[in-house]
Order: sequence, then structure tokens, then C-alpha cells
Amino acid sequence: RTATAGRSNIVLVGLMGAGKTTVGRRLAQRLELPFIDADAEIERAAGCTIAELFERHGEAEFRKGEKRVISRLLAGRAAVIATGGGAFMDADTRALIRARARSVWLRCPLSTLHRRVQGKTHRPLLNGSDPIVALEQLIAVRYPIYAEADIIVDSTDDSVDNAATRVIEALA
Ligand code: S3P
Repeated sequence: RTATAGRSNIVLVGLMGAGKTTVGRRLAQRLELPFIDADAEIERAAGCTIAELFERHGEAEFRKGEKRVISRLLAGRAAVIATGGGAFMDADTRALIRARARSVWLRCPLSTLHRRVQGKTHRPLLNGSDPIVALEQLIAVRYPIYAEADIIVDSTDDSVDNAATRVIEALA
């Protein structure tokens, strides 16, 4: 293997509700790779939920833990890795992902994101304010950076399988 040597990890980036975990799981099945949810790994390492981490230690501490966990995951065996929406925004983490993985931005329109995050309370960045306003602000700040991913795939509502197919085709 040449082009992908050393970059056999696939890392999904994108906003909350973009389908990183759902599409990532299906992608991993189809590619016969293990699936790892970085947020779940952070919770396991910390022994508490992400909401609790934010509450007890603040976002900055969460970001440090996130960076450590993603760095460890990227050094391990090849996998499909879903990251939390903020991971790719950190310059160091982004450089690491770009060096050791193929990055895929699951791009998703506001209306879809909003529908998917509705009624969920485990995301501290969406609690306490109007989720539409919060998502709009995140879109403005983050989409230009997510666009630095190797591959951009639209995460629409047709089906999880179709989204996984689009990723596989884009990676080929
Ligand atoms: C965050 C997204 C969350 C989680 C944390 C912060 C973000 O992950 O990491 O709440 O900054 O966008 P998901 O994108 O999986 O919801």
C-alpha cells in the first residue's frame, strides 16, 4: 500500500448531529475495521460523562483530554474514529489527524442538525441557549475549518448506508 500507508485510520469530523457516530459505525462494518467513538473513550478515561467533565473542569480541560485520547487512538491499530465536533478545531489535534488519518467531514445543513439534536441533553454546548442560534454560530466558525478535511461528504437524510457508500466512494 502506498498512498494510504500510515494513514489507514479514517477520522470523521463535523458538527453535533452530523451523524459521525451513526455513519462511522456503518462505515466500519462495511470496511471491516473496528469503530471507535472518541467521545466514549474520553468518558471511559475520565470515568464520567462529557457533560460532567465540562461542569467539573471546564471546556479547556475537556479539550486537553480530548487531544490526549485522539492522539492515543491515532497511534493504535487502524480504525474508523468518530470525533466530537470540536476536536478538529484544535490546531494540534487537526495536524495529528491530518498526518495519521484520512479525514472525512460529514457536512450537514442546519435544519438536519437541529432536528437530530432536538430533545437530547448530553451536549453542553447546546444546553442553555437556543440550539438553532448555537448551531448557526458553530457553523459560521467551524465550517471553514472542517473544509480542511481530506474528503467532504454530505450527510443527508437518504440513509445511513448511502452516506457510508458516499464516504467509501470518496475514499477510493
Ligand atoms: C462538542 C461535540 C460533542 C462533544 C462535546 C463538544 C463540540 O460531540 O465532544 O459536547 O465542541 O462540538 P458530538 O459532536 O459527537 O456531539
